[in-house]
Amino acid sequence: MKFFLDTADLSEIEEAASWGALAGVTTNPTLYARTGGSLEDFEDHIQRICKIVGPDCPVSAESVAMDRDQIVEDGRRLAALAENVVVKVPTMVEGLAATRTLADEGIRVNMTLCFTVPQAMLAARAGARYISPFIGRFDDISEDGIERVADIVEAVGNYDFAESTVGGEQLEVIAASIRSADHVTKCALMGADIATVPFGVMKKMVKHPLTDAGIASFMKDWEKVK
Ligand code: G3P
Repeated sequence: MKFFLDTADLSEIEEAASWGALAGVTTNPTLYARTGGSLEDFEDHIQRICKIVGPDCPVSAESVAMDRDQIVEDGRRLAALAENVVVKVPTMVEGLAATRTLADEGIRVNMTLCFTVPQAMLAARAGARYISPFIGRFDDISEDGIERVADIVEAVGNYDFAESTVGGEQLEVIAASIRSADHVTKCALMGADIATVPFGVMKKMVKHPLTDAGIASFMKDWEKVK
């Protein structure tokens, strides 16, 4: 499983990238708004993220347009910002149509706000390079987000979508709306290709009290050797 960071915060991205295990970044309008950034600075901000993580790490930047022509226009502009930009598009009719056009032009799309197996199947057939099903938002409405996303991972795994995606690249499922390290465990067990995690969760993923206790006791015993 690969790890993407679910943030638009440059210092979080710099820090996580320095850990050596980061494979990409996902942003959304909420995450960008949280940085305090302006509309005018949005595209420069995406370029800054791309520069931090380097060309091999995909960076998702979302279109907020509601009609297919405008989404395509946004998608072309965003994709031109850097070679690793992936255009994030909501799962809806206009989004599917725009995804088909963008994929045919060789632009990679991450279909987001995906909650059901039928939505995921349509996104895959429309040429999405990534599909982002959400976990936490199901939990928020007292449904089991892990079960829903596991269904999507299983259904996507039943088929080969390479002919639909850009350049025949393998479609990947990005488990999103992750709220805990336990969500990450369950995503790995279900075989999600990627987990996109907030920085707070990534920090928790590193930690275990037994690891801390083990380090402390090794340090203590090493003092005796010295
Ligand atoms: O990037 C989209 C997704 O991860 C958002 O998560 O916590 O706002 O449901 P959340």
